[in-house]
Amino acid sequence: MCGIVGGIGNADFRSYILGGLKKLDYRGYDSAGIAYRLNGKINLIKTQGTVEKLDALVPDFQGADIAIGHTRWATHGVPNEINAHPQVSMNALIHIVHNGVIENFRALKTKLRSRGYTFRTQTDTEVIADLLEYHYIQNGKKDFIKAIENTMDELEGSYATAIILDKEERLYFMKKASPLLIGVSEQGHFLASDCVPMMHLTDKFVDLDDMEYGYMTKSELHLFKNHRQIPPKFVKRDVDDFRYDISGYEHFMLKEIEEAPYVLRRLADNYCVDGEYTFNPDMLESIRKADEVVFIACGTSYYASLFGVEFLNYMGKRATAYIASEWAYRPQRFSKKPLYIFLSQSGETADIVACQKIVNAEGLKNIAITNSKGSTLDRKATYGCLIYAGLEVGVAATKTYMAQVGFLSLLLGALTGSHSAVTHLDALIDAVRDIIERKEAIHELAKEVIKAPSLFYIGRGSDYNAALECALKLKEISYIHAEAYPGGELKHGPIALIEKDTPVIGLISSPAIALQLRNNIEELKARGAKTFIVCNASLSNGTDAFLTKEIKPYLAPLTKVVFGQYFSYYVAYEKGLPIDKPRNLAKAVTVE
Ligand code: F6R
Repeated sequence: MCGIVGGIGNADFRSYILGGLKKLDYRGYDSAGIAYRLNGKINLIKTQGTVEKLDALVPDFQGADIAIGHTRWATHGVPNEINAHPQVSMNALIHIVHNGVIENFRALKTKLRSRGYTFRTQTDTEVIADLLEYHYIQNGKKDFIKAIENTMDELEGSYATAIILDKEERLYFMKKASPLLIGVSEQGHFLASDCVPMMHLTDKFVDLDDMEYGYMTKSELHLFKNHRQIPPKFVKRDVDDFRYDISGYEHFMLKEIEEAPYVLRRLADNYCVDGEYTFNPDMLESIRKADEVVFIACGTSYYASLFGVEFLNYMGKRATAYIASEWAYRPQRFSKKPLYIFLSQSGETADIVACQKIVNAEGLKNIAITNSKGSTLDRKATYGCLIYAGLEVGVAATKTYMAQVGFLSLLLGALTGSHSAVTHLDALIDAVRDIIERKEAIHELAKEVIKAPSLFYIGRGSDYNAALECALKLKEISYIHAEAYPGGELKHGPIALIEKDTPVIGLISSPAIALQLRNNIEELKARGAKTFIVCNASLSNGTDAFLTKEIKPYLAPLTKVVFGQYFSYYVAYEKGLPIDKPRNLAKAVTVE
């Protein structure tokens, strides 16, 4: 999982590559590097750490004709300077940046050793560079496209690459199972893992498909597949979808938590126009006809899909949710006419893409709900739906979670023919605004737990779904170990972990579970826990830590999630942690 960027032509390559890498650092940020050719000489600069660190090392340069850059999320080899990309082939004919994983790299290393190659790094990418170089030398340095074809025949795994070959006036590329887009502009040809780095240069793109490869010059693009040249298919991307602006906020996460009301409004405006739902009628029919709806997702998106299961169960439809990395290796099929729903912010999560391949190979219908038009899941789905949340930069998903569950609530409205879904969403928007106004109260509560080594969230029913998401947020942003439990479950074991001052946050969104949850909290308090209750205003007993406005019970847990987002944010803030880029994480997880 990494971000790559490259270009050939007469752009300002310093600002394009470094600016582009900053926009791609959601894909990883443990090391970074750049290679550019200036006056016929290739300059290579790499560092452990972020693109900002790289920026400080790269001199001002003008007049380069070709450049590539990389921001890394280490898979093979520790994040250090040597393992950072660009990687260079043994005889330095090739500089390459790579996003993906070469699964057979150990076997290929053995093969290359027998061909006289020795290795300088712990990466799998070095193997691609050496293989390309080996095949190129084998064919008398006559045909690099042939060398790419020979290399692709040997590689197993995923790759999106940009390749500078020695003194050639061409930027080569090849792609399998990792995203890669080419941007076409007056100034030259560009490529990147997504279109954001190129949006200021062009709105004309080519979305590369798996097993495509080729090269570009300043004015030409040559695309190949299966040994034949093919015509590129151009697509347009709208610049408005990709605003990358922190708008005076200290962190993107804070800005994005507070964008939820706008995002939910836009979602409702897109999917309900003049009182009529705009969902594809065939898609709705497919859901109605399915004998089971199977959600497949990861992380936050998986927790959002738990609401999808509940919403469909509510209308009497059988529905289940699976974690993609589990389902991919043990596909479960218990129904004759299943319909699959892939829920993914990025639309590129490798574990989900692997599941979609299985589903597509069986010719089964599937829906991809993503925040990324033209992403792999979106393109390969029978029905692609967008959540219109806009670019989310903070690594922790916040507004996109809200949009995913908001989308599912509107879908429920369309399936049941209920026109109140939009009114309910309006009430949610109002309740979120109310939390935003009172966020300082959450900040004060957060200060009480910053020294805690671990924390529990408890909830019953849908509040348990919310608790799962709140605990995930706290883990990833504040590095505090957090667990979510159904309120009644702690006494079956985990209560042994409760000691003096262990923080426990109880969530209450529905009168049906309020009393039981309060009893659970009392049991924990009796064992020394420091307890806080986040509760609907009407259900408060006057002692609760934070109150949320009254809204429909099926959406009320979302107000608890907004509490949890702020809570994690403020705990991390007080601890002085890198909120938008927590350690070891990346925004799009493009390795299985
Ligand atoms: C947590 C988070 C991750 C993602 C997960 C799936 O804040 O962002 O848990 O939800 O990696 O990513 P997508 O939704 O892009 O498939």
